[in-house]
Amino acid sequence: MRQVSSLSCDWLFCEGFSQEYLEFQDPKLFQAIQLPHMNKEIPYNYFDEKMYQFVSTYARKLDIRPEYQGKRVFVDFEGAMAYAEVFFNGQLVKIHKGGYTPFSAELTDYLNFTGENTLVIKLDSTERPDIPPFGNVIDYLTYGGIYRDVSLRVVHPTFIENVFAKPKVKSQVAEELVTTIFLASSAATKVHGAATVALYQKGSLVAEAETPFQIDAAAQTSVDVVIHQEELQGVMLWDIDDPNLYELRVSLAIDGEIVDDCQTSIGFREFDFRLDGFYLNGRKLQVRGLNRHQAFPYVGYAMPERAQKRDADILKYELHLNAVRTSHYPQSRHFLDRCDEIGLLVFEEIPGWQHIGGPEWKDVSYSDVRLMIERDWNHPSIMMWGVRINESPDDHDFYLETNRIARELDPTRPTAGVRCHRGSEFLEDIFTVNDFSHSGGELILDTQESWTNLPHRVPYFVTEFNGHMYPTKRFDQEERLMEHVLRHVRVQDAAAKSEDIHGAFGWCAFDYNTHFEFGAGDRICYHGVMDMFRIPKFAAFVYRSQVSPMVDPVLEPVTLWARGERSIGGTLPLVILTNCEYVDVYLAGEIVGRFYPDRDRYKGLEYPPIVIESIENVGVWGSTWFDGEFVGYVQEQEVTRKKFVKNPVATELIVTPDDTELLANGQDVTRLVLKIVDQAGNLLPYLAESLKIEVTGPAQLIGPAQVTLIGGCLATWVKTTKEPGQIRVSVTPSTLDLPGQSVELIAKREEG
Ligand code: GAL
Repeated sequence: MRQVSSLSCDWLFCEGFSQEYLEFQDPKLFQAIQLPHMNKEIPYNYFDEKMYQFVSTYARKLDIRPEYQGKRVFVDFEGAMAYAEVFFNGQLVKIHKGGYTPFSAELTDYLNFTGENTLVIKLDSTERPDIPPFGNVIDYLTYGGIYRDVSLRVVHPTFIENVFAKPKVKSQVAEELVTTIFLASSAATKVHGAATVALYQKGSLVAEAETPFQIDAAAQTSVDVVIHQEELQGVMLWDIDDPNLYELRVSLAIDGEIVDDCQTSIGFREFDFRLDGFYLNGRKLQVRGLNRHQAFPYVGYAMPERAQKRDADILKYELHLNAVRTSHYPQSRHFLDRCDEIGLLVFEEIPGWQHIGGPEWKDVSYSDVRLMIERDWNHPSIMMWGVRINESPDDHDFYLETNRIARELDPTRPTAGVRCHRGSEFLEDIFTVNDFSHSGGELILDTQESWTNLPHRVPYFVTEFNGHMYPTKRFDQEERLMEHVLRHVRVQDAAAKSEDIHGAFGWCAFDYNTHFEFGAGDRICYHGVMDMFRIPKFAAFVYRSQVSPMVDPVLEPVTLWARGERSIGGTLPLVILTNCEYVDVYLAGEIVGRFYPDRDRYKGLEYPPIVIESIENVGVWGSTWFDGEFVGYVQEQEVTRKKFVKNPVATELIVTPDDTELLANGQDVTRLVLKIVDQAGNLLPYLAESLKIEVTGPAQLIGPAQVTLIGGCLATWVKTTKEPGQIRVSVTPSTLDLPGQSVELIAKREEG
């Protein structure tokens, strides 16, 4: 059976590369690090984006055991930015181009069973023009480093290279499961054996099938194992509300002995992209999503499993989205695993941004298509493959080929590709377009026909809107925050009302770092409905409110509740993002009105906002100012309320960790949200207090230990070491006379 072990700990790192480093090494030159790793921690903003664009060296000793004799040994890299040369015991064993795709280096022929074994990676994290997305300016940063996990895989000479499970569902019934098993053999003679596929649900066997195979000496082949409908009776479908996953265990036996095995999660579901909409398991579903960049403050992409999964949870449970676009590249497998687990649809695409390079560059792009699909084809959440470079011009031959590769590899999913030019050549199965038509005026989304220039309808998604049309900071002025909200409302409403838009993905979920040419000049694009720390702006509640109040009652008046914040003063018109049936408004304890969602204007939204145009005594500069209270009702019952004070003062520092129990594996993290609130528990959006953060116990802070609240709030992450134990994070205000706060976390050893 195969052995897979994590190689994410115990690396040495240094900036630069020299041939002598292959010899390994003066330890003084190197720094001890764990993966995922960014080659240089960066400040929150206003840094020079060249600071992480350099060549660096990663080195690690490998423990090569006697039992590896006669086996094949690989190192699997999940992602390293952007060009890697892998050396093992001084030999160059692999070159990989591309910062978002996995690669493996085979070590078998160079193993040293009697002495030391050293792995060295020369990593070029510059923006090399021969590798997508580079060659021109791009609106995001790619950071540097080996920023995903690495593992060691030891297999039998005849082994499973990959598995593609193709569950077939028709009219909501599981009809068949064909699993293609890709085999490789380095045996000296032809090998015969049997491949077995076993389908499990929560540990219980559901069905099993076996197919004999034979493979020539030093060859590759594939074998299909089929589980038929009779054995799939009672299989439950994967759906966004009920994401049933099954585990597929695949094994290979030669002479009755199992020599290799692997497993993957799969789901049975039926996607149907009809002309009148997208159907999931026979049910029409308006796709409502956002784009996600995988960037975090200070360490860029180098965030481990827990933070990746948390992002998916934020999209699903805090924003109640049903879909995400992984703009503009394949993202962490942990993120995708979580999308499978919680029922979040994914539109995944190849790396690139507007620019198409020369032949060498295109070759890398073809390989990106391949590696993306071969890595991710078993994820039930993935609904379509993006095989165009985001917003690039037409290029007939190039896109004919990316489509061909995708269709050949995966005949079960449609291709798509994001464009922003009208009438661009439609070579894909699904037409996807960034429609930035809305700039505050009457036009919300343009017609399908105006984008496709086709005489007939096609399956069609809007893959971006808003973004640069209306950048908005979490701490912007109230009128801007309101317009930001309304633009998301208007476009999602228009998309839902339209008869030929299957769904819309807003730009974007989280603010992200970018080059100086884009964003606010401070290396941040403030296009998110949440900031880089994943703290919501008001626009987040446009999405959050689109769920039943029984699941999550939402009542978010888009106001800082200050009489002089807006131009000319007052708080009107007042938009309330809510899923309540009505909201009562109180001023100074007196009810002043009952208000209902604006169903006439926003017919497309299940839970449209309330828009209050007038309330007596509110909205007048210079008049009395009051405490305010909003109470939301569903079926005559109060479900939520929100209070504002007229005279907010800093009252309490609150520190909220996302998790209190972590793994002592040298790479686990959790986020802590830091905020100072007023008497009613509301954020003080213009508070710029600085805070000192101290960590004791087996953990380290990611980012600075002295921070200043941005818009009254900030977050930080702590990362575990390999030691288990109690961790204490203490936060102290620097000038405000408020008590500091501490939270206790615990780092536990990984089981097993
Ligand atoms: C689009 C692009 C995105 C982002 C966005 C900002 O044109 O695809 O990556 O730059 O604009 O609105």
